[in-house]
Formats: sequence, structure tokens, C-alpha cells
Amino acid sequence: MHIDIISVLPELLESPFAHSIMKRARDKGLLNVEVHHLRQWAVNAYGQVDDYQYGGGAGMVMMCEPLVNAIEQLSKNRTYDEVIYLTPDGEQFNQKTANQLSLQQNLLLICGHYKGIDERVREHYVTKEISIGDYVLSGGELPAAILVDAVGRLLPGVLNDETSALFDSFQDNLLAPPVYTRPAEYRGWKVPEILLSGDPKKIADWRYEMALQRTKERRPDLDEKENDL
Ligand code: ADE
Repeated sequence: MHIDIISVLPELLESPFAHSIMKRARDKGLLNVEVHHLRQWAVNAYGQVDDYQYGGGAGMVMMCEPLVNAIEQLSKNRTYDEVIYLTPDGEQFNQKTANQLSLQQNLLLICGHYKGIDERVREHYVTKEISIGDYVLSGGELPAAILVDAVGRLLPGVLNDETSALFDSFQDNLLAPPVYTRPAEYRGWKVPEILLSGDPKKIADWRYEMALQRTKERRPDLDEKENDL
């Protein structure tokens, strides 16, 4: 999968993909992430990419021209399956969307700043608008990093058996069961006996029960959702 990201703060996107699972995905050639500085397409020598909003009001708006030139230039190299704008008024990101996006070949992500991007870019170029939650961040870079991480770890070959995404919370509308590691007893706190039993069937049943219980207690809303991940 190839992901291009347009940003005015590319530095913010260096570290998230340079370690651990994202690094492995990139090293293995399974995920290629390229961050493009929007100022390359600035409208003047001062590096201007934003301007005051029509109608007045505080906060700058990211201009059409730099964004459109960036999108059109990048689109010469590949055909994007989705052009995604990260924005608090987009559809809420979840595991289902991550699963769907992981099946695509080429994504283009646009990180907004200030008041956001000119509405005409959204109308004419953006195919999907995604929010990572009901709160406002200072820019789209952290949301973009979250999206790339959630999608990248689902690509075949990125995770090994131990970290398999199949057992993640949300994959089947269930939260993950509790996990334990050595020692079997710490300060008198014991690991549930069944996990030490060596009986894979019993352990699987117990984990499923715990996942159900945890979901019912903490996220009863998940139960009501369609099982269509
Ligand atoms: N940009 C600022 N806040 C955001 C959010 N919650 N989700 C996506 N993009 C954003």
C-alpha cells in the first residue's frame, strides 16, 4: 500500500512511522508512506498556503491553489482509491473503516490546520472525510498518523502470529479479554488458573466469555451494532 500525506508540519509525521510495527511494515516494503510539505506548492515566495476567511472571523483557511496543485501533481504518479481529509466534522473513524481502507492500494491524506481547508477542495477532490473523535486537535497530522497505524498493521504480512490483528479489540465487535504474563503469582495476586491449564479449548472459551463480559460492562453499545466488520 502507498500512502501520500500532504501537510504543513511534516516533522510531526517523522517519528510515528519510524518505529516498531510501522517501521517493520515499511522495511518489508508492505507500506510506503511519503509526507509532502504543502509549502512546495505555496502561492508566493513567502510560502503562503493560507489566507483570511471570507465573511470575517478569526482563523486562517488553507487556500485552494496550493492544495489543488499538490493533489493534481501527486495524482500524476498514482490513481488514488481515496483522497481523505482529516477533519473533526468527518465520519468517525473505527475498525470497520480501517479494515476497508486496508484493502486499498493508494491513499492520499490531507492534514488541515487553522480553520481548515477551503470548502471547494472538499467538494471537488476529497472523497472521504474522517474524524478520529469528538474533540478538536490543532491539525490533521496526529489523526493521519493514527489512521496510517490502524490501517498499516492490518496489511497482510505486517503482523506476525503473536500480534495477529484477528484478536484485537473491535475486530468482532468485542473488546479484548484480559492478558497476563509471568510470574503466575505476584504479591499474592494470581493469574486465573485456567490460563495455566494448558487446555487450548478451555482457554479459548474463557477468553471469549471474558471478552463478552467486558464488552457488556464497558461498551454495551457495541453489542447492538451490526456484526459487519
Ligand atoms: N483535525 C483536528 N481535529 C481532528 C479530529 N478530531 N479528527 C480528525 N482531524 C482533525
